Amino acid sequence: MSAEDFIITAWREQLGKPLMVLKKLRDSSPVNDLNPGVQVVLLVTAALFFISLRRRYFSPISHIPGPFLASITRFWHLRQIWSGRQNLKLLEQHEKYGCFVRMAPNEVSITHPSGVKALLLATLPKGDWYRIVCFPDYRFSTPFSMVDPKEKNECSKYLSTGYLQHNVIKSEPALDKSMSKLFRWMDKYANEQKPMDLDKFFTYVAFDITGEVVFSKPFGFIEKGEDVRGSIAMNLGMEIYIAFAGYFQWVHRLFANPVTTWLAILPMGHLFDTTMTALNERQKDPEASNDLAAHWFKGLEKAKKDQSKLFDLRCLQAFATANVGAGSDTVSAGLQSFVYHLLRHPDGWNRIKTEIEAARNQGRCEGEVIAYNDSAQLPYLQAAIKEGLRMFAPVSMGLPRVAPKGGLKIGEMFFPQGVTLTWGAGYASCPGQHVAKMQLSKIAATIVRDYTMKQVNPQQEWKWAAYFTAVPHDWPVYITKR
Ligand code: HEM
Repeated sequence: MSAEDFIITAWREQLGKPLMVLKKLRDSSPVNDLNPGVQVVLLVTAALFFISLRRRYFSPISHIPGPFLASITRFWHLRQIWSGRQNLKLLEQHEKYGCFVRMAPNEVSITHPSGVKALLLATLPKGDWYRIVCFPDYRFSTPFSMVDPKEKNECSKYLSTGYLQHNVIKSEPALDKSMSKLFRWMDKYANEQKPMDLDKFFTYVAFDITGEVVFSKPFGFIEKGEDVRGSIAMNLGMEIYIAFAGYFQWVHRLFANPVTTWLAILPMGHLFDTTMTALNERQKDPEASNDLAAHWFKGLEKAKKDQSKLFDLRCLQAFATANVGAGSDTVSAGLQSFVYHLLRHPDGWNRIKTEIEAARNQGRCEGEVIAYNDSAQLPYLQAAIKEGLRMFAPVSMGLPRVAPKGGLKIGEMFFPQGVTLTWGAGYASCPGQHVAKMQLSKIAATIVRDYTMKQVNPQQEWKWAAYFTAVPHDWPVYITKR
């Protein structure tokens, strides 16, 4: 007998006894008398029990506090999303447990101040949830949906030049046209002394401005004063879908596929369709040379020369769709927050008014729509806009990042590789921030200069639901023109 055979035989003998005991136990187990269906149920229950036990007590992040249910299943988090109050619910948990809250078996929400540097300024991989923002279906990945920072940055470089402030400002005259239409609607409601749903009109104008900035053409919402083709209403369905399906990527693969895209039956398909119609028309417009699409098509040429495997026409189309989705509700929410909160703080409103009057005495802040450069020089107005975004953050998801190889230390807390940590900004911060700032500053300044308003029912709180973004509604106002 060779040495190898000897070892194997010895092992068999050693293992043989315990295996025999297990076999006897199995044969004499009362489970054998149960029907196969019950056996399966028992097996699944036992498996779930052991998985829960492992997640709760033997996970590398077991020591991080949080709701019990959250430590064993994602269901706790999904329930918060479903309530439409995930942002507030998570803050409640932070008040209870501190800066680190375990919000899912492998995910921690963080409010520790050093998280800003550790998560936001570091180039960490994004959480898998991001793969959902691949619209209209799984074939259309964009820098938004790419989770590898190298890939995202590589792709973004073909798309980013158009967002630079000196490019964005070229769209200002076109933006003024859409903004004028908003103010004409406000004049109309002021004359008729009818309640105005500012939330809707802010969303119409923000959509149209996104159209201007991306395709050199508004979609026509503010012109008509209505949700053309129900596109805005569709957005809500999409927000809910993104918030949930991001945790079940197979759902996205199953439902968002080339067939559903072609049929345009899902909200993402509808948004894609609206975007493609605008993009195709834009291609026929020889005047359109300052918009984002112009920069993206130049980027596409460059990517072809560079033989980029990441940036192609499909990526461009998907990114255009992402802009239409990302650039409208967010700005509307920001504008609403500015007005709504200042209505509750008239001293703040008056201070901005005084600031604008002082600027007018120096010959600034004139014209039908206040110029961006003038509005940018109003420090109190700018602070109030920022405060509005802080009081009511338009993006309510946690924007997950993944702890890299070697783990990550935040404050005194160490997170091993692979743990998902949520916060949001840094390399993945909003590319449209200059566009957003321009809209918020110009519209907010012009409103305070030219109008006063009060809520129809000043005690009534606005309504909102936080899914991927949160957009308030239902707080009609009476407007007076100054
Ligand atoms: C007040 C208004 C806005 C807010 C609060 C906001 C906020 C954000 C946030 C938090 C993100 C996610 C960053 C991340 O992935 O970590 C984002 C992404 C994005 N935003 Fe905005 N945004 C606003 C306006 C706009 C506008 C006006 C545009 C377009 C003109 C825009 C286009 C985008 C795009 C394309 C992305 C995806 C970027 C990428 O990862 O490649 N946003 N925004």
